[in-house]
Amino acid sequence: MNDILIKNTTNFFKETFGTEPQKIVLSPGRINIIGEHIDYNDGYVLPAAIDKIICFAFEKNNSNQSRIIAIDLNDEFEINLADPIGLTDNVWTNYVRGVMNQLKLKGFDFEGFNCVFSSNIPVGSGLSSSAALECGFLFGLNELFNLKIKPVDIALMGQSAEHWVGINCGIMDQFSSVMGLENKVIKIDCKTLEYEYHNANFNDYSLILFDSNVKHSLMTSAYNERREQCEEGIAIVKENFPEITSFRDCTEQHILGLQNVMSANVFKRSLFVVKEINRVKLACEALDNGEIEALGKLMFETHEGLSKDYEVSCDELDMIVDILKGEEAVVGSRLMGGGFGGCTINLIKKGNEEEIKKKLSALYFDAFGIELKIYDVKIGNGTSLYNNN
Ligand code: GLA
Repeated sequence: MNDILIKNTTNFFKETFGTEPQKIVLSPGRINIIGEHIDYNDGYVLPAAIDKIICFAFEKNNSNQSRIIAIDLNDEFEINLADPIGLTDNVWTNYVRGVMNQLKLKGFDFEGFNCVFSSNIPVGSGLSSSAALECGFLFGLNELFNLKIKPVDIALMGQSAEHWVGINCGIMDQFSSVMGLENKVIKIDCKTLEYEYHNANFNDYSLILFDSNVKHSLMTSAYNERREQCEEGIAIVKENFPEITSFRDCTEQHILGLQNVMSANVFKRSLFVVKEINRVKLACEALDNGEIEALGKLMFETHEGLSKDYEVSCDELDMIVDILKGEEAVVGSRLMGGGFGGCTINLIKKGNEEEIKKKLSALYFDAFGIELKIYDVKIGNGTSLYNNN
């Protein structure tokens, strides 16, 4: 599938500019096994890059003018790098503008270029197509102009670009898009950015994504609001327990003891965060020990917390998880990513995948009149150069 994407992107480039691209970059989306809404709370997360990617083709054009084409959207824009960079109504261009803005702010020198890109990462499904766009685009410019930006800094600059566009996100998406490794999940310490790879070995279980195919518009405002509520929560914790500097040092008892000084929402969010940080540690151990049923159980618990305490689920996602909970062959299921739509991540006993897919699709369609989308993802490498010779 990616071969066709790479070929089409390269051919489009040649037809448009009459030249071979100088750099071809592949940049993946990501999944997250567990640790949701935890990256901006100084916790640990367990994501991985996937085999769904954006392919970019680049060349320098020896001018001040740059031309960037989104093949799938049949859209493009030009930008004069001497002009100030601002946000526009055309959302996809903002991610790219955000990256160029970062480069300018940090004083990197680059000139005009041509870029085309095409993607097979579903947009709005919680697979971080925007992180793939930011990081792949920046990776390409880094290579093209030999800017010598280190991989982790590519992730951090991608995150800043996302902030510039308007979501005050954590580092998980950009980090996993850049640092992913085939068949490995990454345990990221989001406070220190230390990370370690663990084998993504799910034994007798298949990792399958069910896409609710809905995207509720609340996402950006609700996301930023959750982040503010957590900031309020940790500020109250610090006031009351000066020795604690972050949610990772809290026990559930700490939060429970503060219920009467926190608003109901801040209390629920804080309790979720402390429990989820703990679940990630347990999940990582379960994965290392091949205890996939235990891992799955933690995923169900995460969903419950995201739905009831963090309140970032929606009817469609809750129904998917509820149905799957009743299936013996499904050991774990939860909403993945920011929430309010997008995908669930599921562990299904091998041999039962087709039956579950069929059953769930029918029930889901009956309930909402919406087609369920299904992705059998593989864990792939992070953003990289593609060698077309
Ligand atoms: C979005 C954000 C991430 C992370 C997840 C929730 O994907 O971009 O930083 O917070 O939501 O875990």
